[in-house]
Amino acid sequence: SRTREVDPEPAHLVIFGVTGDLSRKKLMPAVYDLANRGLLPPGFSLIGFARRDWEDEDFAQVVHDAVKEHARTPFREEVWQQLIQGMRFVQGNFDDDEAFETLKATIEELDKAQGTGGNFAFYLSVPPKFFPKVVQQLKKHGLADQKEGSWRRAVIEKPFGHDLASAQELNQLVHDVFPPNEVFRIDHYLGKETVQNILALRFANTMWEPIWNRSYVDHVQITMAEDIGIGGRAGYYDGIGAARDVIQNHLLQLLALTAMEEPGSFHPKALVAEKLKVLTAVELPEDLGAHTVRAQYEHAWQGGEEVLGYCEEDGIDPKSTTDTYAAIKLTINNRRWAGVPFYLRTGKRLGRRVTEIAVVFKRAPYLPFESSATEELGGNALVIRVQPDEGVTVRFGSKVPGTSMEVRDVTMDFAYGESFTESSPEAYERLLLDVLLGDANLFPRHQEVELSWTILDPIEEYWEKHGKPAKYAAGTWGPAEADEMLARDGRSWRRP
Ligand code: BG6
Repeated sequence: SRTREVDPEPAHLVIFGVTGDLSRKKLMPAVYDLANRGLLPPGFSLIGFARRDWEDEDFAQVVHDAVKEHARTPFREEVWQQLIQGMRFVQGNFDDDEAFETLKATIEELDKAQGTGGNFAFYLSVPPKFFPKVVQQLKKHGLADQKEGSWRRAVIEKPFGHDLASAQELNQLVHDVFPPNEVFRIDHYLGKETVQNILALRFANTMWEPIWNRSYVDHVQITMAEDIGIGGRAGYYDGIGAARDVIQNHLLQLLALTAMEEPGSFHPKALVAEKLKVLTAVELPEDLGAHTVRAQYEHAWQGGEEVLGYCEEDGIDPKSTTDTYAAIKLTINNRRWAGVPFYLRTGKRLGRRVTEIAVVFKRAPYLPFESSATEELGGNALVIRVQPDEGVTVRFGSKVPGTSMEVRDVTMDFAYGESFTESSPEAYERLLLDVLLGDANLFPRHQEVELSWTILDPIEEYWEKHGKPAKYAAGTWGPAEADEMLARDGRSWRRP
């Protein structure tokens, strides 16, 4: 069912950190789903690298279980048998030179056996403290050498640094080994079907553009709410927090796609140029105390289940000040958006899992109705429902049937499930395929990453200096402080 014009050249994927959660839940299933859809390059092989004392068969079994549990498409024995032919495991530590030599030999052997052209993508699905080591090892053992007529690519999972300085350092280090156009930074939100649809919605239609600006838009709310806690990720999450975990990347990318100007084409250069322009124009509120909120969830009953507070979670310092909820207000200094607030919020253990972008329009300048007749009329809104209920909603006022002219909000819905028969691919399917194709459109460039840190760093610094995070009960929609933050502007958060 593929309609992309480019067919992937023969290529192989090496995953570092193949025993991790991301690999099992997302990467391995995505590889299988691509195989099942017939999209993998000819002679494809998957090489896992990790510390475990595994043989190829053990690795294959783990992939098998991961696929059975998490793949999107049905399991087909013949696809699996084909895939397993090119599966290898290399055991080792990241500072183990011998292991990297084994990796090199494995790669060369596979390349020869499959008659492929020496194209390899190295996926670093490892904790960030290991990024430098792995990249250096690839260089040292000649695995990153770009040979005539073939490519070597690095795929880097987030977090890409924890502030501007560390991101710059990391960029330098990676660019020292891989040419910039062979570096693919993952922001899996860009791989989501509904996120790519922002561009289609905005630039394939005429009806939104005339009102997509400060004359009509009152404000924009971007929400990424999760009902889960931090699960087993204490080691990663503590000290990082909600803002660094998802605002710096996912939410600022959503903001960029929502607010940017129309690019001349979807060539990566054109697209990135527009994203950079709008991110550069982002301005922080002067009073960060009044217009940002960070908070932590507290022990409560959530949907009939008693859940721990953040500071009681396994592996978390009881005195931790890490944010599990963050809300910030930003403005964009350009003609289109001057004065229009963009409110971004995210949190763990909120009421429900939902990500949406709501463009909320100004109220009609005059209402020729009895005032009691419009009490239930809100502002018009266009809501891009990123997940889980993928679609787009338009909210507007309509007359309530009857003898009086009473007006109330109604919605007009587009739902993927109703309009399309095919289910949306998982973000990682699209992103892995794009890596193999060398299509960089859905990957943030290093300037975007750095600009995002430029936006977030002053907020993190402010939070560190000023007081403690607010609290909210697990299962609610966040702290009272966040409601007050919007109330100060005469607005309120949507309850999705
Ligand atoms: C990741 C964050 O980037 O996105 C996680 O590190 C978060 O904390 C996850 O849970 C959410 O992804 P999705 O695709 O389920 O919205």
